[in-house]
Amino acid sequence: MIVLGIETTCDETAAAIVERDSAGHGRILSNIVLSQTDEHAAFGGVVPEIAARAHVEVLDLLIERAMAEAQCDFASLDGIAAAAGPGLIGGVIVGLTTAKAISLVHRTPLIAVNHLEAHALTARLTDSVDFPYCLFLASGGHTQVVAVRGVGDYVLLGNTMDDAIGEAFDKTAKLLGLGYPGGPEVERMATRGNPHRFALPRPMQHRREPDFSLSGLKTALRLEAERVAPLSEQDVADLCASFQQAIVDTVHDRLRAGLRLFTERYGTPNALVAAGGVAANRSLRQALRQLTEQQRIRLIVPPPALCTDNGAMIAWAGAERLAAGLTDTLDTAPRARWPLETVLAQRG
Ligand code: KG4
Ligand code: ZN
Repeated sequence: MIVLGIETTCDETAAAIVERDSAGHGRILSNIVLSQTDEHAAFGGVVPEIAARAHVEVLDLLIERAMAEAQCDFASLDGIAAAAGPGLIGGVIVGLTTAKAISLVHRTPLIAVNHLEAHALTARLTDSVDFPYCLFLASGGHTQVVAVRGVGDYVLLGNTMDDAIGEAFDKTAKLLGLGYPGGPEVERMATRGNPHRFALPRPMQHRREPDFSLSGLKTALRLEAERVAPLSEQDVADLCASFQQAIVDTVHDRLRAGLRLFTERYGTPNALVAAGGVAANRSLRQALRQLTEQQRIRLIVPPPALCTDNGAMIAWAGAERLAAGLTDTLDTAPRARWPLETVLAQRG
């Protein structure tokens, strides 16, 4: 089956066509992403109103290009999938309404996809991994450890109590006068810094539940920065390196707890899957590699372009749901909040 996927929940406008064969293997026919980073950079973060307007302006064109690149016409689509949340509501409305219009005109089934579910299922598109597996979702808005047991069967094992990991990177960058988005900037500076110069906390270490708490780390970093101010370039590099090391140690410890909890409840997972923009961080990938080698568990980290927000993951999640007979009606509402564990395998 062939599915068009539309993503507009944050600051990326994206459209993609994905094919899923009867054996459950996926193939990306086209995957077009237009990032709005430049439009938000001056504000140091995403401005919802600017994002929604930008989606309206470019989405039609992106869909047209995705269709052309895949050499596909609307009549040959088996489903239209759009991210129906969670996210910035103005953007979600743009994507979902566009999908509904196409669905209505061409009488093609609509699939309203949960954006987090799409991140969760991407590893089945890239690596055909079987259920169940353990997902580590680390993005600008989420930091979760999830047991992925089937399509529409997600159990939240751990969550952040406060800031998401990507948010912690972004706030650190802002505090130190680095650019937006902060993650890549902090990573770049960290390569030139000393990770042992500043003693920052490793919050929640050794707790049994794989939860995170990152606001204390952020505060500790701010106090250290204030203590040594004015900051030289080397100070900034050392602060970045010390912060990144604290995050890496924390993730290592929290995921060890996550894998233990997963195994106790469901047996050994078929893989540990990392997703979300933060999974692009090289030090973090290295820590995950070390952890999974120790535990003899397969590690899957989809390529960066499929870890960050994109249309292919929405199309693929749509195809997985469609294959399971799950479609949605035209009165499906966009949702700003939509926790992954509440996504059920229910028929629309
Ligand atoms: O998944 P994503 O593209 O968007 C959502 O938040 O949904 O993730 C973006 C987040 C931002 O906070 C960004 O700073 C972070 O991922 N990020 C990174 C890196 N690349 C992106 N964080 C650390 N290291 C990176 N290399
Ligand atoms: Zn995302």
